[in-house]
Amino acid sequence: MTKLWGGRFAGESDPRFFEWQKSLPHDVALLAADITGSMAWAKALVDAGVLKPNEGRRITDALAEIFEEADEVDSKLVDSDAEDVHSLVETELGRRVGDLAKRLHTGRSRTDQVATDLKLFLRELLVVLDERLRDLMIALVDLADANSDLAIPGYTHMQRAQPITAGHHALAYVQMLSRDRDRVGDTIARMDSCPLGSGALAGTAFPVDREEIARDLGFAMPTRNSLDAVSDRDHLAEALFTCSLISVHLSRLAEDWIFFSSHEAGFLELSDAIATGSSLMPQKKNPDGFELLRGKSGRAIGELTGFLATLKGLPMAYDRDLQEDKQALLLGVPPIIEQVEIATLLVRNVRYRADRCRAAAEQGGMNATDLADLLVKTGVAFRTAHERAGTVVRAALEHGCEIQALPRGVLADLVPELDGLDLTHELSVEAVLARRDVIGGTAPSRVREEVDAWKQAFVEELEALDAADDLDDDEDKVL
Ligand code: ARG
Repeated sequence: MTKLWGGRFAGESDPRFFEWQKSLPHDVALLAADITGSMAWAKALVDAGVLKPNEGRRITDALAEIFEEADEVDSKLVDSDAEDVHSLVETELGRRVGDLAKRLHTGRSRTDQVATDLKLFLRELLVVLDERLRDLMIALVDLADANSDLAIPGYTHMQRAQPITAGHHALAYVQMLSRDRDRVGDTIARMDSCPLGSGALAGTAFPVDREEIARDLGFAMPTRNSLDAVSDRDHLAEALFTCSLISVHLSRLAEDWIFFSSHEAGFLELSDAIATGSSLMPQKKNPDGFELLRGKSGRAIGELTGFLATLKGLPMAYDRDLQEDKQALLLGVPPIIEQVEIATLLVRNVRYRADRCRAAAEQGGMNATDLADLLVKTGVAFRTAHERAGTVVRAALEHGCEIQALPRGVLADLVPELDGLDLTHELSVEAVLARRDVIGGTAPSRVREEVDAWKQAFVEELEALDAADDLDDDEDKVL
């Protein structure tokens, strides 16, 4: 068996134990990151005079070859007896450069190696997650744009409360997702330090230039404490939290839309592309996509809490418990990227049923607050106005109609101050919506402003990305 630590041992490993403690089935996902880190380490060893330049070159070329043949390496994994991805790369390197491969691990430990790999791998995933979140936000902004003045019932306590616009509802989720993007960005910024060169726990004994290694691997700086560097997994815990919260946000959207698409509400129509049927009941069209998003959020929370429990109580510095981080990462982050992609597909495949929405927004006395507000404008104190609007609501319930449809005599009796006002107009859903004309309010004009602001922000972001790409291309040409 290929082991990186055989010398001290006289006896063989128990095969079942050896298989069980391996991390290769999971950390093979870090293969590219491991090779990138090893290339930077080979260069650092050359710069430090530990490897001769031609040795460094041979190692780097062979690592590049392994990278190129990664698919083939991957297929060999099933039979590989390597303990982890680091052993696998070293074995593959040995097959290509012979004994020279044994020099690469000089001054390095798998603990600073894996800490570096993990950051490289996680950073790439977080960049993708951020892009996918942006795509989802754009889809929601488009939905808001198409429905900026469409009235739907707004709920508190799942009871009809006040009318809102469907656009405003979609933009609420855009706000949540924008905070998620901020959190992703914060995590990327906070993990921007390179552990390589920390050794097993105390720092490497070879004079490598850690500033240069950090730069080579795209980090802002080297880590500043070797003990912390090899045992720090805060970035993963943060990423798992952010992913759980994203999942919770998707779950809440799912919950809203499952209800909106129910026969009872009937506000939203799912296209056939994203709905499923029943094996028994021919009439069914089920929102399984949304239910799965809602269901999967439980698992995301589980990955976070499970990993925090793994970290709790770990003595300084590295402990093998940390190997569990790979599964937490693989189960906690890529599935959320996929869920965000699927959510985008779902958002692009729903349609509001305008007639049903409008009809629902006009029912249930959701303009009662506005009746009280009209009384306030005539000088009545709000508490009193609330009380008196309540009596009007009761009268409407007794008559089985909406407030503005009460017989004139009844209204004249209960709210004489409003005599002369056209209540059919003043309490219409359009008027009620238009009054919420404050920053953050549901008035269609404000929703359109927000839609425009978001669109502008995305245009600017994408333009800046294009410009940065062009700059990169120019730099490539210069090199
Ligand atoms: N497979 C290990 C992990 O993922 C790599 C480091 C093991 N180091 C050690 N000294 N046992 O954490």
